[in-house]
Amino acid sequence: MHPKIAEDMSRVKEILREKGCIKDLDKVEESECLIPEGGKMIRPRLVTLAARLCGYDGTAHIDYAASVELIHNATLFHDDVIDSGEIRRGGKTLNVRFGNSFALLAGDYLMAKSFCLIAKCENPEILSAIADCFSDLVYGQLKEMDHDRDIDTPMDVYYKITDNKTASLIKTCLVIGGLLAGADQQTLNLLAETGSKTGRLFQIADDVIDYLAGENRTGKRRFHDVREGKMTMPAILLVRRCAPDERELFRTLLGKRDMAESDGMRIVTLLEKYKIINEIHAEYFRMHEDVTRLLGKINGNEFLPDFKALIDLIIGRLYSYTDKYLKDDGSEKSPGHE
Ligand code: FPP
Ligand code: MG
Repeated sequence: MHPKIAEDMSRVKEILREKGCIKDLDKVEESECLIPEGGKMIRPRLVTLAARLCGYDGTAHIDYAASVELIHNATLFHDDVIDSGEIRRGGKTLNVRFGNSFALLAGDYLMAKSFCLIAKCENPEILSAIADCFSDLVYGQLKEMDHDRDIDTPMDVYYKITDNKTASLIKTCLVIGGLLAGADQQTLNLLAETGSKTGRLFQIADDVIDYLAGENRTGKRRFHDVREGKMTMPAILLVRRCAPDERELFRTLLGKRDMAESDGMRIVTLLEKYKIINEIHAEYFRMHEDVTRLLGKINGNEFLPDFKALIDLIIGRLYSYTDKYLKDDGSEKSPGHE
């Protein structure tokens, strides 16, 4: 990591340690930060790298970088209430530990803290970009709820959900960096497109991995999406391709909160039978190439290698889970991964 970015990240972590603690509560130890240390800090790094890539040399990117991490964690607290998530990052979620109301308010608390930081920086353009992002995040989540247990969810609706609930924040991180640096409109558009496409891939990967791996690898429960009635990309493609009796089986499992692990494995067998993972991989790989093309258009400086490496880290996560499927049929292997 570029030493300036490492320095920026340690300053961001200091702010998060302070803003992520809620003082004087009996339930939570005063020293317990609601934002766990040791995360990849993807979103703060995106803000910081975009700013520095566009030539920014001030200090406000630190506050914005901390604010997006606060927002991200707040959305996860809310998401775990909505999804009845029990395990995240390998530990019990706040809603399991202290109940839904506590988790929702803790999310609101982080949101408020993020706005304190954003307000301090007094940049109306960035404030407006973040406000748009908020409404996108909430809209994406509402749209997802609108299609709970809807076996006929179309792919364009899935993309709309993904682009709003996940890609919007990743896009906004890059746009914040560009705006801070006073980048021209063309650069801002390039950053926005790179962020949107990267964010879409991030969510697709998350949704595929939900079927392929569990707590010991992801820190989250396996098959959570199908148990919660979520029609994600693997499910949408599967019900399009499979036989009527298999579709009926899937329908009975969709939204079944107490679905057994063995039923989840029956779905995996169907995904294998219809080569759904291979199909997703091919589409994912094509979209990854789009992002690589966009990265090629960005004017570089000393921060470009870190920026490219971070985008690659975000996108490349999927390949270590899917490559085993590709060996079987000789499909093109993914770039630079095991
Ligand atoms: C995780 O999706 C959830 C999100 C990316 C966004 C959640 C957004 C909200 C709850 C609305 C906005 C919230 C606030 C506080 C204004 P997932 O369930 O697919 O991922 P997971 O597998 O990590 O749970
Ligand atoms: Mg969730």
